[in-house]
Amino acid sequence: MTTYLITGGAGFIGSHIAEALLQAGHGVRVIDDLVFGKKENLAGMDLEFLEGSILDDSLLRKAMTGVDGVFHEAALPSVPRSVKDPLASHEVNSTGTLRVLLAARDAGAKLVMAASSSAYGDTETLPKTEDMPVHPLSPYAVAKVYGEQLCSVFAQVYDMETVVLRYFNVFGPRQREDSPYSGVIAKFCAAALNGDEVRIDGDGLQSRDFTYVTDVARGNLLAMETSLPAGTLMNLAGGGRFSLLDLLDALERILDTKIPRRHVEDRAGDVKHSQASVELARDLMGFETQVGFQDGLELTIDWYRSFLANPSLSPQDSSS
Ligand SMILES: NC(=O)c1ccc[n+]([C@@H]2O[C@H](COP(=O)([O-])OP(=O)(O)OC[C@H]3O[C@@H](n4cnc5c(N)ncnc54)[C@H](O)[C@@H]3O)[C@@H](O)[C@H]2O)c1
Repeated sequence: MTTYLITGGAGFIGSHIAEALLQAGHGVRVIDDLVFGKKENLAGMDLEFLEGSILDDSLLRKAMTGVDGVFHEAALPSVPRSVKDPLASHEVNSTGTLRVLLAARDAGAKLVMAASSSAYGDTETLPKTEDMPVHPLSPYAVAKVYGEQLCSVFAQVYDMETVVLRYFNVFGPRQREDSPYSGVIAKFCAAALNGDEVRIDGDGLQSRDFTYVTDVARGNLLAMETSLPAGTLMNLAGGGRFSLLDLLDALERILDTKIPRRHVEDRAGDVKHSQASVELARDLMGFETQVGFQDGLELTIDWYRSFLANPSLSPQDSSS
């Protein structure tokens, strides 16, 4: 049986990768220090869980024993958090990625890295293609670009199989809604269901390529299983673009209610518009999304409705 390690596997995206791998009949090991992830996200999944940090070298090397591939998801994944605490962001997102790469190299494992559209910064041209120069606007984005470049260098100098996937805005069940650093769809869904006001940074016209999480998990498996050129880097997204105001309109239609809104100042380090070119992922590995924005939102709202009614259960997403 093929065994895969997922760093940060108790988090939002990592737990969906775990679920997809188990469904495909693979063995799964997870290393996660639970700083933001939750054990409940892995409830009912038959896998090996190691609680601890990727910065703990002996635990990391134990986690790598006998694995065929690594999905590197562990990170402090927030632009504003990195603006507030750049050193913590650097330690986990930069040094942590270097440590994971070294341990994966020594274990002879292929590595697929979770990178970010924040690498592009605020480009005038949309959609964002992989050949555009990087222009990080936050410590988080700098660390992600550093990780990407390490992957490319490890492919060249150590002949290691690495793939970099630039996610755009991923959404869906199990995304944390309860932190100031939560993703916008998670926050808006929870506020709307609780009857609270939503806070919109700036005019709400900023737009994002929202991608449903099971598509991102499937793209990860494809990247691991497909034989790709050394050090491949590609966008992994749906290729659509919706503003925050579009998002609120869609939520109001689904919930058949008016959601109170308050506009506040723009966030430092944020980009205005984001939309992926999806051609490379399609050409290299036949990747297409299967869940559109509207369907994904309905699935997400259903999940938050039952999760908020009973948070300790952290129900699994029946659709995935
Ligand atoms: N969610 C998105 O829209 C998005 C977009 C672009 C890139 N990404 C990247 O995808 C990856 C997964 O993001 P997510 O949204 O699932 O976030 P998440 O916070 O839910 O998952 C990250 C996981 O990493 C764990 N972690 C953090 N520091 C760790 C450490 N030192 N050792 C071990 N585990 C640690 C956390 O506990 C958490 O479970 C991250 O690398 C993130 O930067 C996410």
